[in-house]
Amino acid sequence: MNPYVNMTVGALLATVFVMMSVSIASEGIFHSPAPEKEGFAIVAAEEPAGGEAAEAAPAAVPVGQLLAGADAAAGATVFKKCQSCHSIEKGGPNKVGPDLWGLVNRPIATHEGFSYSAGMKDFSKGGQETWTFDHLNHFLAGPKAYVKGTAMGFAGLKNDKERANLLAYIREQSDSPAPLPDPNAPAPATN
Ligand code: HEC
Repeated sequence: MNPYVNMTVGALLATVFVMMSVSIASEGIFHSPAPEKEGFAIVAAEEPAGGEAAEAAPAAVPVGQLLAGADAAAGATVFKKCQSCHSIEKGGPNKVGPDLWGLVNRPIATHEGFSYSAGMKDFSKGGQETWTFDHLNHFLAGPKAYVKGTAMGFAGLKNDKERANLLAYIREQSDSPAPLPDPNAPAPATN
């Protein structure tokens, strides 16, 4: 064979060898393991498994007792479930549902510029009824069961602690938060 060809081939092979070595070495240095799962882990909010008892009487514990151990900061997180339909800022807009600023002890179905269902208007007895803690506790546990014919499309918060935290948060979204109900008062008869 022509010695020049031999040399050229040798040089080529040497180059390939060096490149391969570099490639293998850098793979070792820069290799990053693939994540075990791709993308973000999305943890779905789960409704607590409501046992038979929870279904039968979702708002059995008197609201005063519930609120005694409630955490308003945790309630702010619970309010995320309401946010798609409700604002809760002072002077906030009505969305699918009315703005909820100053809700506690506000006359029911009276927020300016919102048109309420006949069911909610009936329940308000012409604006005589107010959103007491007790009404809110029952309504939020099961809106359609408590206010017949309401247009609020929300299944309800069956979990006492979640509901209590939410109520504590809602209470604070007001110019003058309503006094907390007596923790020792028995639950008043509903309706
Ligand atoms: C899918 C939309 C939707 C969601 C979610 C929702 N609501 Fe509502 N809400 C409404 C609508 C619509 C009304 C008006 C009901 C009617 O007129 O019957 C309403 C009415 C209300 C009222 C009565 C207000 C008044 O001025 O009398 C309260 C209180 C309330 N919602 C609280 C809540 C809270 C707290 C949550 C979260 C746990 C929530 N809602 C989740 C749509 C929603």
